Amino acid sequence: MDFTWSEEHLMIQKAARDFAQNELLPGVIERDTHQTYPQKQIERMAELGFLGMMTSETYNGGGMDTLSYVIAMEEISKVDASCSVVMSVNNSLVCWGIETYGSSAQKERYLTQLASGEAIGAFCLSEPEAGSDASQQKTTAIDHGDYYILNGTKSWITNGGTADYYLVIAQTYPEKKHHGINVFIVERGWEGFEIGAKQDKMGIRGSDTHTLIFNDVKVPKENRIGADGFGFTFAMKTLAGGRIGIAAQALGIAAGAYERALKYSKERQSFGKPISAHQAIAFKLAKMYTEIEAARHLVIKAALDKDQHKDYSLSGAVAKYYASKTAMEVTTEAVQIHGGNGYVKEYHVERLMRDAKVTQIYEGTSEIQQLVISRAILKEG
Ligand code: CAA
Repeated sequence: MDFTWSEEHLMIQKAARDFAQNELLPGVIERDTHQTYPQKQIERMAELGFLGMMTSETYNGGGMDTLSYVIAMEEISKVDASCSVVMSVNNSLVCWGIETYGSSAQKERYLTQLASGEAIGAFCLSEPEAGSDASQQKTTAIDHGDYYILNGTKSWITNGGTADYYLVIAQTYPEKKHHGINVFIVERGWEGFEIGAKQDKMGIRGSDTHTLIFNDVKVPKENRIGADGFGFTFAMKTLAGGRIGIAAQALGIAAGAYERALKYSKERQSFGKPISAHQAIAFKLAKMYTEIEAARHLVIKAALDKDQHKDYSLSGAVAKYYASKTAMEVTTEAVQIHGGNGYVKEYHVERLMRDAKVTQIYEGTSEIQQLVISRAILKEG
């Protein structure tokens, strides 16, 4: 793997770092405490081009590679994972899904707005009874000729209350199981589409997570993405790329906590010297650094696989599995290094620890990543 980053990659890293430090850090604790959606910050991310980085310029995107995207995701996640999850869902799931599989009309109408960040997207797969077992869709989309009628409930939907356009996955032919599933673009405000309760979460509390209810929502046929029955494959393909984004988010959360712990350990004195001079702390830092380096290599490997048009479902799952585990371990150690200060909000690391946990849950739990990895290696072996 060639790790020499181009001038352009270094510029993206600097732009994302400066933005995160100058515009996301102020107020991040208050937004977390009050579960305030970062509206102003997301608008700025749109202006700076972070919401459609990989979409082609033809559709108002940045036309950048996946490597640029993970570099920016890491920097933004170091500071505010509530903002980076909005960025991740919009880029990897919504824009990528429409650009790769949508019709020209769908790209003109929706992607142009989503990639510029003028509109925000949501990805609606999970249901109360279909989380890890995503093929068990209970939401139905009944074919009525030139339109479908959508009924059902979606759960834990990121950007649920704030999105403009929703990719909704639903079952059309239950007898065909996952081959009968479709995916549709649904607009906010359509009759029968109700935004349900906002979830009160442990972490990424600035992000907006809702239950969504569909009651006889009429969806024009031209809003179905891809061929009849393509919905499950769409979801799997889209999530394979989404996992690279969440891996980069986990990496950023870990790196953010590590940087804080390193700085604190040099400033905080105990037993007459900085705590970093005690091996108990120095060895923790060494382990954190090593794990982050390993996670970063895996994230870059998955991003390069995608950029080089190789199969990235295995490398993306490996990166997400390892980086999210690293995020949980490193943030926990960062709290430990901060001692009592780590347990209070103003030092940030307790929030990073809470934020880290979701990276082991969404876009496929760690157990789902292990399932994807084990199936791939057993097939290859
Ligand atoms: N690419 C293309 N096709 C794929 C695929 C991939 N990566 N993975 C599976 N498929 C296809 C298979 O080839 C198979 O196709 P055929 O039947 O035509 O041969 C079909 O999908 C079914 O595959 P499996 O038998 O492997 O399916 P399964 O029922 O055993 O489940 C699973 C597979 C990996 C467990 C899947 O259900 C899964 O990924 N679950 C987790 C769901 C998830 O990640 N949810 C996240 C919600 S979105 C979110 O969190 C966003 C957010 O808001 C932040």
